[in-house]
Amino acid sequence: MSNEMDRDTGHDYDGIKEYDNPLPGWWLMTFYATIIFAFLYTIHYESGSGNTLKKDLEIALSQIETIKATAGPAPLDSEDKLLEKAKDPQLLAVGAEQFQSKCASCHGVELQGLIGPNLTDKFWIHGKGSITDIVATVRTGIPEKGMPPWEGILKNEEVIAVSSFIHSKLGSNPPNPKEPQGAKVE
Ligand code: HEC
Repeated sequence: MSNEMDRDTGHDYDGIKEYDNPLPGWWLMTFYATIIFAFLYTIHYESGSGNTLKKDLEIALSQIETIKATAGPAPLDSEDKLLEKAKDPQLLAVGAEQFQSKCASCHGVELQGLIGPNLTDKFWIHGKGSITDIVATVRTGIPEKGMPPWEGILKNEEVIAVSSFIHSKLGSNPPNPKEPQGAKVE
């Protein structure tokens, strides 16, 4: 089939004629577009304004670093709010369970103190015995003194639960208390 656009090249192979058919418009446009793209791409990346792969990697890594730096544990509620939540018997039950499985070996089943200090008296080495203070100690621990850090082992809510449980046992006067350690808090 031929139309008026076709140009007879004059080549004839045993009766088969060769026509010079123009390429379809859509194909030509795509082809020119790739040439323009390649030109702009080369300028962009070779002139230095485009990022190299290495630079892209550095950007991605620094983004990860910022996320890591800002993604600490969720900010704590105020002490008043924590005290309010600490009235929840379910929270205290979770805290008691955590305490018996993770803390009692060092602080005693009744929090009376063993290797670690008595947690029911008025004497505190770290902080003043508020839930906020206890949470801070439990999160980071005091590794050089044998108190392990619990951040990453206990979930944030579990740290709050066990801290609320300890706070609820203040003044519970368990038998065989360990001698007071730290400063007295009135
Ligand atoms: C391997 C023993 C060990 C375990 C297990 C342990 N602790 Fe301790 N803890 C200690 C020691 C020792 C200290 C005292 C650190 C010091 O002298 O500064 C301490 C201190 C503390 C304090 C601060 C007391 C104060 O007077 O300021 C709190 C609160 C506490 N632990 C809570 C916990 C909780 C909650 C757990 C369980 C999730 C736990 N500990 C598990 C050994 C332990």
